Amino acid sequence: MFKVLTSIFIFTMLSHAKSNTETIKIGKEIFAKCAVCHGADGRKKALGKSEIIGGRPAEEIERKVKEYKAGTGSLYGKIMKGNVISLSDYDIRNVAEYISSLDKQSEAAIRMEREKIATRIERTEKIEKAKKASRIKRVKKTIGKMINSDKIEYKHLFINPDDAVCGYIRAMNRDTGLFSNYKKFVSYPIDGEEIVSAEDRYGKSPMFDDMWYKACGKYLN
Ligand code: HEC
Repeated sequence: MFKVLTSIFIFTMLSHAKSNTETIKIGKEIFAKCAVCHGADGRKKALGKSEIIGGRPAEEIERKVKEYKAGTGSLYGKIMKGNVISLSDYDIRNVAEYISSLDKQSEAAIRMEREKIATRIERTEKIEKAKKASRIKRVKKTIGKMINSDKIEYKHLFINPDDAVCGYIRAMNRDTGLFSNYKKFVSYPIDGEEIVSAEDRYGKSPMFDDMWYKACGKYLN
């Protein structure tokens, strides 16, 4: 009994002494011929028959392969026997470790892909935000020119899903120094020009109110 335990202990030490990268390297070489049936990532059902082996625990794969090598089982088991008969225990250990690592490898690849996408989204969002800010600045300038007041103030500026700039505006009267009430406005880009429609210009009309509500007001709740 003591002898058995010792040899298990030594075996464990030996197998851990080998670096993981070397195990994976050897395993990968052996796996090249397995990949024909099991898929390069170990995720194909070999001959439509086997379970997916990529990412399964190494011990389980090792045990299965040894069973095939010992040569019991079905016709398909015999096919497997032909493929593993020449493998040593050391080979089997390495290839099992490699197959088991395939899941982690694809997980790492998936994680990297996700990170890439997240970065791309973040960048796009930043660009969109900058574009919106510059658009709003342009609209403010346009309205500023239109109104010809020393001081203009804006409230709740935003760009609606149809790319219209929405908001409220009030301007200071030069003579009195007093501000008007906030008035609704909406601005559409047409041929690179900002076409501003404002409550101010058309008077308080139900038509303008309706248009403004549909374009802007409903988003402000
Ligand atoms: C010619 C195609 C073929 C090749 C090459 C092949 N296998 Fe298989 N493998 C099979 C088939 C078919 C089965 C399912 C056998 C059965 O029904 O038991 C299988 C089953 C397995 C299983 C058990 C999966 C389960 O269903 O639980 C493992 C592990 C495995 N193979 C490992 C390997 C390794 C390692 C190699 C390379 C050294 C290899 N195979 C090469 C066809 C192949």
